[in-house]
Amino acid sequence: MKKNDLTNILESYNERYKTFGYSPKTLGWDKKTHRLRYHVLLSHWDLNGKTVLDYGCGFGDMYGYAKEKGINFVYHGIDINKNLIIEGKKRYPSAFLEVKDIFSEKIDKEFNYILSSGVHNFKLKDNWSYIKESFNLFDRYSTHGFAINFISNKVDFTKEDIYYSDPLKVLDLAYKYSNRIVLRNDYMPFEFSVFVDKQNIFDKNLGVYPEYLKYV
Ligand SMILES: C[S@@+](CC[C@H](N)C(=O)[O-])C[C@H]1O[C@@H](n2cnc3c(N)ncnc32)[C@H](O)[C@@H]1O
Repeated sequence: MKKNDLTNILESYNERYKTFGYSPKTLGWDKKTHRLRYHVLLSHWDLNGKTVLDYGCGFGDMYGYAKEKGINFVYHGIDINKNLIIEGKKRYPSAFLEVKDIFSEKIDKEFNYILSSGVHNFKLKDNWSYIKESFNLFDRYSTHGFAINFISNKVDFTKEDIYYSDPLKVLDLAYKYSNRIVLRNDYMPFEFSVFVDKQNIFDKNLGVYPEYLKYV
């Protein structure tokens, strides 16, 4: 990601934080739909007992949502914005929240899963490169899988500061990492999530993943 892009992202969230404080509005969510986004990302895999990285965690609200729903995972949230992380630490003292840019700083551990909500929608100089680099990093730092949501380019209106991703292009990219892919565009018309499952060892005789053998 270019330095200018980073500055723009930081400035934009800081400005909103000054105006709205701890509010979904600071993150650019003006409706309650961020909860649905968490639900979708958190419900695809059984995350209980797993380590999960929330990339671009903002205040760490995904952690709050997961706790509310009884998901018992080892959560690690990272974000480039220190103001959001400081606020998040006050809200969720039991969450591990950290200021970090994984594109320029290494992390010394792997996570079972990496989830990311709303981080790839901000218009940048080169969004597609950012998406490809994110997939590479998420693949490197995850053992079981990763999931990311996007705003679709199949929309009926557009805003200037938003990047609208092509679901087919994202799907094609996802297949470079695993054959076990889900793309969900069934929960909101203009947004989609892609799940890359790296637990892709299958029964060689039947060509079926283990959880599905009972249906054969
Ligand atoms: C729309 S907000 C979503 C926050 C959170 N995921 C949620 O859904 O509540 C996007 C967040 O991504 C963060 N972000 C953007 N680019 C990032 C990067 N390269 N590394 C880490 N965080 C980033 C922003 O600072 C912001 O907090």
